[in-house]
Amino acid sequence: MSRYSRITGTGSHLPPRRLSNADMVAMLAQRDIETSDEWIVERTGIRARHFAAEGVSASDLALPAARAALEAAGRKPEDVDLIIVATSTPDMVFPSCATILQAKLGIVGCPAFDMQAVCSGFVYALTVADSMIRTGSVRCALVIGAEVFSRILDFNDRTTCVLFGDGSGAVVLEASDEPGILATDLHADGRHVGILCTPGTVSGGQVLGDPLLKMDGQAVFKLAVNVLDSAARATLSKAGRTEADVDWLIPHQANIRIMQSTARKLKLPAEKLVATVHEHGNTSAASIPLALDVAVRDGRVRRGDTVMLEGVGGGFTWGAVLLDY
Ligand code: UT7
Repeated sequence: MSRYSRITGTGSHLPPRRLSNADMVAMLAQRDIETSDEWIVERTGIRARHFAAEGVSASDLALPAARAALEAAGRKPEDVDLIIVATSTPDMVFPSCATILQAKLGIVGCPAFDMQAVCSGFVYALTVADSMIRTGSVRCALVIGAEVFSRILDFNDRTTCVLFGDGSGAVVLEASDEPGILATDLHADGRHVGILCTPGTVSGGQVLGDPLLKMDGQAVFKLAVNVLDSAARATLSKAGRTEADVDWLIPHQANIRIMQSTARKLKLPAEKLVATVHEHGNTSAASIPLALDVAVRDGRVRRGDTVMLEGVGGGFTWGAVLLDY
């Protein structure tokens, strides 16, 4: 039995339709809603986001990311013995996005399920896959974040619709005698359900209530900066490492101000923060693996680097994964 799990390949995918802030300003103006590039950039760092075309689902976005991660790992679909898709915008109520993706990849038989922890979904999924690998039941896992948040945005609410985008990111996580994932730390506090939610429910095949995203941005902001700091410190302490050992901080990409504040609290120089929020917006569970793949492919994150991944979002949920890449 291997003692560790290790990321052996990464991949990501963005739908081709890119909307700049100017495009959002024009789109909202048609509804007599005012926003501006200055407001969006100053408050969030976001300059653009990608929206999937009509009919394109989360599993469609997950497929090219999964294939790219498998190729980077030198693996074939038939090597995969676990698929976890972190998503809050699955193709169907059921079955899971993971089983739909499994069929698209031509894999038969391995377990496949979705992880629903909103923007913390990827760190939750990676933690579960790591545990299953360390118990010996799995050797090669595909762990993916894939979202089509454009489908649940309220384009009459300027406080949320300018923030989110669509995309996917994937990693192949394999059993290894070398680290790998060093420590994980997950949390949830359901008392805060109401500050970030999509409250519609499904009954008799119909969506009842409001199926669009609601967020109290300031409440989420305040909780996020505190919990991201505590989760980072918890993983460092569990792994017997310090802030000085962290080569790259890859937090959930929601708001550059939250990310910079997290880096500052950990006394990490700005260059160690991987930020893709400018170009991707907030892609919920996809944001961390998307940013990781960007930083791997542009040569920043190299084999052996120590990387801190941190998620935070609806639930309220949060967590961190510390790993040697
Ligand atoms: O993915 C899960 C995690 N999510 C997050 O981490 C999000 C956390 N929250 C945030 O990132 C920020 O709270 C926001 C970006 C959502 C908002 O930034 P803020 O600095 O907290 O702004 P605010 O909500 O205090 O709004 C300030 C002003 C308000 O006007 P008044 O009341 O001061 O007159 C808003 O109505 O900005 C106004 N405003 C806008 N103006 C132009 C809100 N949205 C917009 C907009 N364009 N799109």
